[in-house]
Amino acid sequence: MSSQHTTCTKPDQAAPAVHAHVRSFVRRQGKITAAQRQARVEFQAKWSLPYEGHPIDLPQLFGNANPVVLEIGFGMGETTATIAARNPQWNFLGLEVYAAGVGSLLNRIERDGLTNIRIMEQDAVDVLGSGLAESSLHGVHLFFPDPWPKKRHHKRRLIQPAVAHLIANRIRPGGYLHCATDWPHYAEQMLAVLAAEPLLENRFSGFAPRPDWRPLTKFEARGLRLGNPVADLIFMRRPTRAGPSAKEQ
Ligand SMILES: C[S@@+](CC[C@H](N)C(=O)[O-])C[C@H]1O[C@@H](n2cnc3c(N)ncnc32)[C@H](O)[C@@H]1O
Repeated sequence: MSSQHTTCTKPDQAAPAVHAHVRSFVRRQGKITAAQRQARVEFQAKWSLPYEGHPIDLPQLFGNANPVVLEIGFGMGETTATIAARNPQWNFLGLEVYAAGVGSLLNRIERDGLTNIRIMEQDAVDVLGSGLAESSLHGVHLFFPDPWPKKRHHKRRLIQPAVAHLIANRIRPGGYLHCATDWPHYAEQMLAVLAAEPLLENRFSGFAPRPDWRPLTKFEARGLRLGNPVADLIFMRRPTRAGPSAKEQ
């Protein structure tokens, strides 16, 4: 993707200067298939964009002003591709640090003829911090993030106050954050952290019913096989800006 897609937006839309950097992943060499490797050579320039450390001009990137949904950690991209195919009126920006997953989604985009997905192979905390303007997103999907089950690793979980605030700040008032996890302790942490974030409001009382539009991923299917209960959480960004801006100053 050429650099024309990543021009700066106005300085007053810049990221809050300070955010805690949560390291939520370990770089996996992992197995990458020949097809995934080839996709990264052949289609990267068409559907991916580099992280340049300043807010992306989203209408320029997608070639239209449709609402943009950010997906954090799309894995192999099954959910991203399915939801994007069903919702051509929305744009989807997918973030992933796993090369095989990026190759897999690039192949799906080409196979299914999708035009409303763009990919960044970059740490979501960087992109949220400096790559997206305030109130620029219609929604954020965080499906089955790494649960970091050991207590000493809980600090690596993405949903904790600093990152939750950053995510909420990037969502436009009235937009939504949808999280799902099959790890009960993380589900409770998500509920507590998101409920305490002043920019957000729970759309439900506690956990949300599983929406049937969210496709079953292999992570979810495995969790269900192991008997893990799946929790969905759907919060919206509060429509008023009075409380939030006080916190950001
Ligand atoms: C457990 S997998 C779930 C994948 C997918 N959402 C699903 O439901 O099948 C979590 C994914 O998040 C990615 N990930 C973790 N931290 C990330 C970060 N900071 N930025 C981007 N991706 C991240 C990992 O590489 C991994 O592929």
